[in-house]
Amino acid sequence: MAVPWIPSPRTVVDALLDLLSVGPEDVFVDLGCGDGRVVLEAAKRGAKAVCIEVDRVLCNIAEIWAQLMGVSDRFAVIRGDFFKIDLSAVDPTIVYAYLYPSTLEELSPKLEAELSAGTVVTTLDFAIRGWSPVYVKALVDEHGYDRILWIYVVGISNPRARVAGLAKNLEMFASRIKMRRFKL
Ligand SMILES: C[S@@+](CC[C@H](N)C(=O)[O-])C[C@H]1O[C@@H](n2cnc3c(N)ncnc32)[C@H](O)[C@@H]1O
Repeated sequence: MAVPWIPSPRTVVDALLDLLSVGPEDVFVDLGCGDGRVVLEAAKRGAKAVCIEVDRVLCNIAEIWAQLMGVSDRFAVIRGDFFKIDLSAVDPTIVYAYLYPSTLEELSPKLEAELSAGTVVTTLDFAIRGWSPVYVKALVDEHGYDRILWIYVVGISNPRARVAGLAKNLEMFASRIKMRRFKL
């Protein structure tokens, strides 16, 4: 079932970017970015922002916003199906996905295969079946609805990592990734 465009609430976007201390060292990808509101905020904080979206009109809107906000130099739109885009070529430090549970489950093997150890994967409202979050943040959005942010780290949270053993994966991080400062 195709996931429709339902934008993330402003309070959720701000809370997420604060929580992850998003900054210039990050490459932030939104899988199904809609009008780009999440990645654009990441770009405003200095991150390199990549917006992957199948809908042409939404891609155009995101690009216009990037120009208006003066972040075009660190903002890219990839128009297409995120199932067909090689995420290892983008090499994100953070991946955001606000998608249906069934879509997240379908994406899960791709995330495991293509994202580097230490990449933060964060989803709104729906968890990734079979993955263990490192942190879960509950919040109330500006419309008064309860929302949940699920935070995962590739190399710890994904099923293959748990089979391989946490200690081994922590060694992989140390060689590649700075320790991210979570603002809890
Ligand atoms: C729930 S909306 C989230 C929008 C945005 N991430 C946000 O949080 O504001 C899901 C978006 O995913 C896009 N989408 C759905 N399936 C997709 C696919 N296979 N490839 C790329 N984009 C897709 C939809 O067009 C829609 O804009």
